[in-house]
Amino acid sequence: MPSYIPEPFRIKMVEPIRLIPRDERQAALERAHYNVFNLRSDEVFIDLLTDSGTGAMSQAQWAAMLEGDEAYAGARSFHRFKAVMDEVFGFKHFVPTHQGRAAENILTATALKPGQSVPSNMHFDTTEGNIRARGGKPVNLVNQRAYDPGAHDDFKGNMDLEALRSFIEEEGTENIPFGMITITNNAGGGQPVSMANLRAVSEIYREFGIPFVIDACRFAENAYFIKMREKGYADKTPLEIAQNMFVLADGATMSAKKDGMANIGGFLALNDAEWFEKVCAELILREGFVTYGGLAGRDLDAIAVGFKEALEEDYLAYRVGQAAYLGERLLEAGVPIIEPPGAHAIYLDAASMLPQLEREALPGQALTVALFLEGGIRGVELGTVAFGYDDPESGAPIYPKLELVRLALPRRVFTQSHLDYVVDVLTEIKSKTGDLRGMRMTHAPELLRHFSAHFEPL
Ligand SMILES: Cc1ncc(COP(=O)(O)O)c(C=O)c1O
Repeated sequence: MPSYIPEPFRIKMVEPIRLIPRDERQAALERAHYNVFNLRSDEVFIDLLTDSGTGAMSQAQWAAMLEGDEAYAGARSFHRFKAVMDEVFGFKHFVPTHQGRAAENILTATALKPGQSVPSNMHFDTTEGNIRARGGKPVNLVNQRAYDPGAHDDFKGNMDLEALRSFIEEEGTENIPFGMITITNNAGGGQPVSMANLRAVSEIYREFGIPFVIDACRFAENAYFIKMREKGYADKTPLEIAQNMFVLADGATMSAKKDGMANIGGFLALNDAEWFEKVCAELILREGFVTYGGLAGRDLDAIAVGFKEALEEDYLAYRVGQAAYLGERLLEAGVPIIEPPGAHAIYLDAASMLPQLEREALPGQALTVALFLEGGIRGVELGTVAFGYDDPESGAPIYPKLELVRLALPRRVFTQSHLDYVVDVLTEIKSKTGDLRGMRMTHAPELLRHFSAHFEPL
């Protein structure tokens, strides 16, 4: 096995990137209020902000886009999309949406009443935001090992089954309109969920009559981890494993900007016909007709091809190998990360890396800023800024258990030498972490603070 699995593609079109001088990076940060979401992308050298919609499409996807049928209703593109949806996901009903959060919005709009709770292993920020925006309570019940960055479990995204059962018994089924699980668990380090855990979660939800909805953004990566790590699946294809996963659920939300290998798109799928009727009404009101859901026909074609490419084994081996390579090299350099690496990102453990900074000094944000200043690298804080909030009763700040900076890997975009550069920059930052200053939030919206908060150095 080579230490780095070569990219299973060659480059046929290039997009220039450039490292601007340090004084320009400093000026850009000041102009951006130290929030990397406010940077211009041409100020960024290696953009690891997200793996969402930032991937490179294949020649087959671009070719499929030319076949896009832009008919308002019943387009050929929709039917090609539907054929792949039926094969891979197999739910009775679905609508395309323009991205994952649109699916979450419609899901919560049609099912959630104020005061109700939605359990999951860990909700991602937009899911959490959509639940809170409807007056609901997102509840994270991932197993406790997920909060130990050094724990080496194969499936650190697994739900704590006892906690799920107790939660349902205490809360009452009437207060839980649906339950979820996120595969892989993005907010907790991109960690996979095992088939055994998915099956057990499904059984618990079904025992209590609670519809089970999978946040399926990285379903192909999750399927590959099951193939590599779970007994009994080594000989199954990622497609077969995906089919085995979805048959356990009553519905799914999806951002096709991840394992759809596309730059835009998503879907909401459900088995229940009555619920689906409400979904269609909401979709038509806000997104578009049920056969395009806010997308162009060509987007549906790109995603249909993308779903199948995401399940190809040589692609998945390279994808998982890339994250493993970056993770190993960072650990060798003494940079603390969430272990073991997932597939779509490396998560830096900012709390361990900058122990001199209290949580209120926002170590994750400080590290995010340092990455850009030192090397023109853009990551994202997933810690106090993204997941912290003020207690509605006391006003006291509530800190999430993990203080992370995510370096997401866009699909099929960067090569091994880009990853080596990231390691070099982090090694340099590691050698002078004592000099890093904390940050203060000077402006923050109530929900999804990391997207638009302003900061200044302490
Ligand atoms: C696990 C998870 N769920 C939901 C979403 C939301 O998807 P989108 O960005 O397409 O709205 C994301 C995207 O970052 C995600 O990672």
